[in-house]
Amino acid sequence: MGKREFNGVVLMMLCLWVCGVTASVTYDHKAIVVDGKRRILISGSIHYPRSTPQMWPDLIQKAKDGGLDVIQTYVFWNGHEPSPGQYYFEDRFDLVKFVKLAQQAGLYVHLRIGPYICAEWNLGGFPVWLKYVPGIAFRTDNEPFKAAMQKFTAKIVSLMKENRLFQSQGGPIILSQIENEYGPVEWEIGAPGKAYTKWAAQMAVGLDTGVPWVMCKQEDAPDPVIDTCNGFYCENFKPNKNTKPKMWTENWTGWYTDFGGAVPRRPAEDLAFSVARFIQNGGSFVNYYMYHGGTNFGRTSGGLFIATSYDYDAPLDEYGLENEPKYEHLRALHKAIKQSEPALVATDPKVQSLGYNLEAHVFSAPGACAAFIANYDTKSYAKAKFGNGQYDLPPWSISILPDCKTVVYNTAKVGYGWLKKMTPVNSAFAWQSYNEEPASSSQADSIAAYALWEQVNVTRDSSDYLWYMTDVNVNANEGFLKNGQSPLLTVMSAGHVLHVFINGQLAGTVWGGLGNPKLTFSDNVKLRAGNNKLSLLSVAVGLPNVGVHFETWNAGVLGPVTLKGLNEGTRDLSRQKWSYKVGLKGESLSLHTESGSSSVEWIQGSLVAKKQPLTWYKVRK
Ligand code: GAL
Repeated sequence: MGKREFNGVVLMMLCLWVCGVTASVTYDHKAIVVDGKRRILISGSIHYPRSTPQMWPDLIQKAKDGGLDVIQTYVFWNGHEPSPGQYYFEDRFDLVKFVKLAQQAGLYVHLRIGPYICAEWNLGGFPVWLKYVPGIAFRTDNEPFKAAMQKFTAKIVSLMKENRLFQSQGGPIILSQIENEYGPVEWEIGAPGKAYTKWAAQMAVGLDTGVPWVMCKQEDAPDPVIDTCNGFYCENFKPNKNTKPKMWTENWTGWYTDFGGAVPRRPAEDLAFSVARFIQNGGSFVNYYMYHGGTNFGRTSGGLFIATSYDYDAPLDEYGLENEPKYEHLRALHKAIKQSEPALVATDPKVQSLGYNLEAHVFSAPGACAAFIANYDTKSYAKAKFGNGQYDLPPWSISILPDCKTVVYNTAKVGYGWLKKMTPVNSAFAWQSYNEEPASSSQADSIAAYALWEQVNVTRDSSDYLWYMTDVNVNANEGFLKNGQSPLLTVMSAGHVLHVFINGQLAGTVWGGLGNPKLTFSDNVKLRAGNNKLSLLSVAVGLPNVGVHFETWNAGVLGPVTLKGLNEGTRDLSRQKWSYKVGLKGESLSLHTESGSSSVEWIQGSLVAKKQPLTWYKVRK
């Protein structure tokens, strides 16, 4: 530390001491107030378990260079408490490290504890064991749930306090969040929902963090909790009290991808327009959801059917590279907003009509003036007269004038030369494959019952896969055998994917979708006289993360399972003996690890399996 810096630090410490100033975060109708100063805060979501700790410093630095003031993250309960009372805060779940890195970069943190987080994350962040706590019902006025929620929330708050991470203690956390978009659920379930909202707010405030709490999409957020907006546009949002600032906790920079679905894109121009429009209308906190989306590693994604990539078309792409022109276009926007900040925090805007679909929002205070000029027409260019000047505006755009005269930025004018350059990889990847055999009822390590069982109840989500296996005995004198016909097998499943094997051969695959996970397999199948092995491999592609009481949604083959076309008519297989096996062989061998993968023989070169069921692939680069 140089002498001058040293003197500065001593002076500041003296002042904190003598002047009696303590760190604090409060709010008024205009803005979040940090250490007595109203702030226009630009925030971005980076979820720590969606990247590796090695990536964190670079992501955070890029966020800072991109003009952010705040990093926003959820807290991922199921990663932190994999079994009751057993906590984990290492590696990608090292929350303290992540928050400290943001602090070191000079950024604030908005900690959305939830602990319900939605987020396309398995079971919305709840540990699967929570579902099996006796008498529990999630996210309502239910004692076992509230006890568990309070315990985890308090655990996180005390962890942050121990590390002095709240701004009131000199740390970077200026805001927290309790629950997540509970408003729509409360609306649906009524009285117990209302009681739960009150309880959640009181419980959170009682934890005494010294920084404000928000509840997003929660019109009735009890004081002093701030209700905030989530959406693609939020310019018309008003908080439930005129003593609370207008905050936008999720401005969706793109959208998530589901398996087989389109890859969503949101133009940089529209994103910038939405932010400028919110700020000109008096908004003072905007968070990009996501600023870096990252990756759903392992089996963390919920959904259903949410893809491994959580790129989100965010300003930083899945790998942490600048997604241009979005990153640069927003950086320039943030610069223009920062230049306007003194005027924006000093006063409320005055709105002037400048003609059809044209408006100016003017923030004029002693010593500061900033104006935003908007063209809401989606098709036509406009010329707007404002003050002594004339301004050209592209359609659906806002110009920012930090001195009320000079345009420094227009949301629709994206600079050129920022487009992504792709370089092809020259050498081909050398893939290898390994095929495992379908499981069958003769296997000794399976469990059995005269019933079809719900999938997650059996697996406890230790694997996506559950085998349902049974024997189908066919008499040699069956009519269909003589006529060369095949009986019709029908399998009803609550979801999400089903592979049907008969005597070791794949007979078909069916799957549900994000909107409706239920599925039915119905096809004629080849059976032989004597014993036939029917093996159904049911796959749960992530557990639901949103919807009223999503914890009660089932997965797996619940039946009926029937066989039609036998001499006896239709045979109901649902209540005969079924054996169960959790997981795939490759999973128990840990084929995805270095040591596990050496336990089997891999096929290489031209013999690598193509379009065969139950194939594992690996590649090394
Ligand atoms: C919001 C929710 C987020 C995320 C987002 C979609 O409604 O609060 O957690 O799920 O939708 O990506």
